[in-house]
Amino acid sequence: MFDTRFETLESLEPLKKIVREAARIMLDAPVKAIEGHEKSGWGDFVTDQDVEVQEVLQRELANSYPDIGFIAEEAGMADGSLDGAVFIVDPIDGTLNFVRGRKASAISIAYAVDREVVAALVYDPWMDETYTAIKGLGAYVNGSPIRVSSWPFTGGLATYGSAIYYKDLREKNHEMLDLVWDHAVDFRRSGAASLDLCHIAAGRSDVYCELRLQPWDYAAGALIVQEAGGFCTQVNGQPVKLHEGGSVLAGGAAAWREFADLARHTSFYNV
Ligand code: IPD
Ligand code: CA
Repeated sequence: MFDTRFETLESLEPLKKIVREAARIMLDAPVKAIEGHEKSGWGDFVTDQDVEVQEVLQRELANSYPDIGFIAEEAGMADGSLDGAVFIVDPIDGTLNFVRGRKASAISIAYAVDREVVAALVYDPWMDETYTAIKGLGAYVNGSPIRVSSWPFTGGLATYGSAIYYKDLREKNHEMLDLVWDHAVDFRRSGAASLDLCHIAAGRSDVYCELRLQPWDYAAGALIVQEAGGFCTQVNGQPVKLHEGGSVLAGGAAAWREFADLARHTSFYNV
């Protein structure tokens, strides 16, 4: 069943308002007072602001959309929570940047119906950029249409995602970085996967790969890339997973295809 809740660009306006209000918590936090607490292990931080943003979003979304479920990074994912209509939320994507006062973090919200993302919003409060997409209606930044680049991977600009929490991926990551070194003109590492995907959608980078992310990191960005004319899949070309984490490969058609073809001969193809 295709849900009709968000079927026009205007229908996203109340969601934009809720997200912008929640983002005040990020903008108003004095950097010296931001404390990161390690969560699952190496470099995986949570701050009081992650929790506060999530609480505000949960409350306001429940007020405006009482029949839509809520899955979020700081709450985890329970069995069956993807059934029906659900928001998949990363309250602060790029928490380590946020802790260190680096202005590269975002709020990411995907709206999924029966396990398919049909609307998405990523808000970068530092640049005041709101990226949106509705399935079939294209992708936008601050209301202007965006499009992926047509550059190939070779000679193009890559975005490298380190997935550094996952020490089991060390060798595969090094191999991926070698591939990038051998083909791209250069690479970037922003520290906020949702924004990495939006920058692919806006044609500001040609290909992005990270070997393990969680659904709240990429659920919104993946639709935004696809609606901007690009591809966002696992490295092996399978659709990105919503019920658990996995790898992400995104780009315009040329760069995505070239990277995927080259990755076929590596150890990280089926990571
Ligand atoms: C992280 C960022 C980062 C990626 C990590 C994610 P968080 O999200 O998106 O770029 O490399 O794997 O966990 O923890 O800051 O919300
Ligand atoms: Ca995240």
